Amino acid sequence: MRIVVYDQSGTKVEIGNVSDKTLMSAIRSAGLNITAQCGGCASCATCHVYVEDDWNRKLEPVSDIEDAMLDVAEERRENSRLSCQVKLSDELDGLTVRLAPGSGF
Ligand code: FES
Repeated sequence: MRIVVYDQSGTKVEIGNVSDKTLMSAIRSAGLNITAQCGGCASCATCHVYVEDDWNRKLEPVSDIEDAMLDVAEERRENSRLSCQVKLSDELDGLTVRLAPGSGF
């Protein structure tokens, strides 16, 4: 599958042949600037992304833990997600996200 990521400066990056299990991991594997300090346990909010277009509808709903962490994320929006909580599958081919403020180092 492939994903599309806009980095913090707005540069579009297409990442192909993604085999990572989570969105955060795929972004990190591609060498993009994402802090993801807690390593994926939903306890830092430094993997915050905005999900573009209609992709949010295809993702699993936000859990209570993710919701609580998003409340402390910088500039939370309706389409905010913690990328470490987004599980990837072939149905999400083309998933497009934007790295949120505070997600980079
Ligand atoms: S990596 Fe820490 S909340 Fe996602």
